[in-house]
Amino acid sequence: MTFATFTHFVTSRSRTMAAAAVGAAVLLSSAVGSAQTAQTAQPAQQATEEAPPPPPPPQPPQPPQPLRYGEPLVGLTANQLADFMEGREDFRNVETPATGLGPIFNRDSCVACHGVPAIGGSSRIFVTRFGHVANGVFDPLTSLGGSLLQERAISPDGLERVPPQANVIAKRQSTPLFGLGLIEAIPDATILRGVRATRVNGVLGKASMVQDVATGRRLVGRFGWKGQQANLLTFSGDAYLNEMGITSRLFPTENAPNGNVALLTKLDKVRDPEDQVDPANGKGDIDRLADFMRFIAAPPTAPVTASTAFGAKIFLDTGCASCHTPMMMTGPSPVAALNAKAVMLYSDLLLHDMGTLGDGIVQGSAGPRDMKTPPLWGLNVSGPYLHDGRADTIEAAIQAHDGEARIIKDNYLKLNADQKKLLVDFLKSI
Ligand code: HEC
Ligand code: HEC
Repeated sequence: MTFATFTHFVTSRSRTMAAAAVGAAVLLSSAVGSAQTAQTAQPAQQATEEAPPPPPPPQPPQPPQPLRYGEPLVGLTANQLADFMEGREDFRNVETPATGLGPIFNRDSCVACHGVPAIGGSSRIFVTRFGHVANGVFDPLTSLGGSLLQERAISPDGLERVPPQANVIAKRQSTPLFGLGLIEAIPDATILRGVRATRVNGVLGKASMVQDVATGRRLVGRFGWKGQQANLLTFSGDAYLNEMGITSRLFPTENAPNGNVALLTKLDKVRDPEDQVDPANGKGDIDRLADFMRFIAAPPTAPVTASTAFGAKIFLDTGCASCHTPMMMTGPSPVAALNAKAVMLYSDLLLHDMGTLGDGIVQGSAGPRDMKTPPLWGLNVSGPYLHDGRADTIEAAIQAHDGEARIIKDNYLKLNADQKKLLVDFLKSI
């Protein structure tokens, strides 16, 4: 990791760089100061081993950003704020069979799975995927209701079960939605620049190319554990159908319980598409849900301290940033709050072969062992960790890294206890 990148990385913690030129300049000078000390004192590799952390940097004025989870982006217009609030109402709206819920579904509102520690967050609710693999070929068992299980139904007759044919079953945890509008606004080209032609420290990475339902274009998927969707509108439609059983103009066909179409016909009473577009403004629920997620702010960060600055350096020296890219810029956007902003997401939004950490499910261009690098912001409140929640702590999550992350995980294992603690404290602050 170069010095310039490190400086940039610490500096750009002031997410809205343009709005915070003064704060950024102060932070830059303090970061340059401490990083230069570390650089001139000894080679980067040993720099992390020196015992006393550098003196705390002066606290610059922070750019405007919400201090709590679930707040809107700072700098929205009155109309955008109204769209955010309208979408938030839809997000917590509880659906019933009369309004289109089911016949099969997982929960009756978005917030049921995305409500911790605030609306738009995550939860400890898992969904189940299944499939059948034979001779290395994965079959999502679509005709039997795969690969996503809907574990509830509006009538007991409709209840889905994992079919006996399934020999791969994987759990997936609900993910937080904070800052997703910023992630959506990162240009495809920026993400594609992260793909490596040859391995560097074992890391390769590939983009999840998807045929996007909303735009009809081939785009870089960036949402979901497998990078399976490219934008928030399509994800809204997908989640509305697959988690709640509500059809829309983008996803007009109901899921049949374990593929049983006769049973679907018997149970499905509401005409499709259930999500109707309001002729007054051309918006349906899926558009309003996308507005809410587009305008929700990134998770709040803790102030930079000497100890977290040191942890950041360990993060970089260990090689974590090869996949967990600290910062990417959004492209031009008609929404000022999303236009040319520094996004401190700590992800390259690429798929990596994670070896034993893969979930065995093939989805779009993601193979059975491929997982998308998840953003690390907000880690302090998003546990348990990893796609299946197998890690209760950040340390356990790092230790489970495998495949392309093997060499860098081994670097981590060689750190001493103090260094590991500084790294984790840093991760809890971002
Ligand atoms: C039953 C729980 C559940 C419900 C209900 C639910 N979700 Fe999710 N959500 C999940 C899970 C699990 C994931 C991760 C899915 C995956 O990657 O396979 C997820 C992922 C997402 C993502 C991708 C986040 C990211 O950072 O990549 C978005 C966007 C999303 N959900 C929106 C919604 C919306 C909008 C609704 C309501 C229409 C909704 N969800 C309802 C469980 C749920
Ligand atoms: C080869 C790319 C790669 C490297 C290198 C890498 N990671 Fe990851 N990381 C991932 C992927 C992919 C996942 C998601 C795995 C899954 O789906 O279970 C992940 C998950 C995580 C999580 C859990 C996030 C969550 O929300 O559950 C943490 C914490 C984490 N990584 C920290 C680190 C640290 C610290 C390092 C450096 C020691 C590191 N990673 C190196 C790709 C990488």
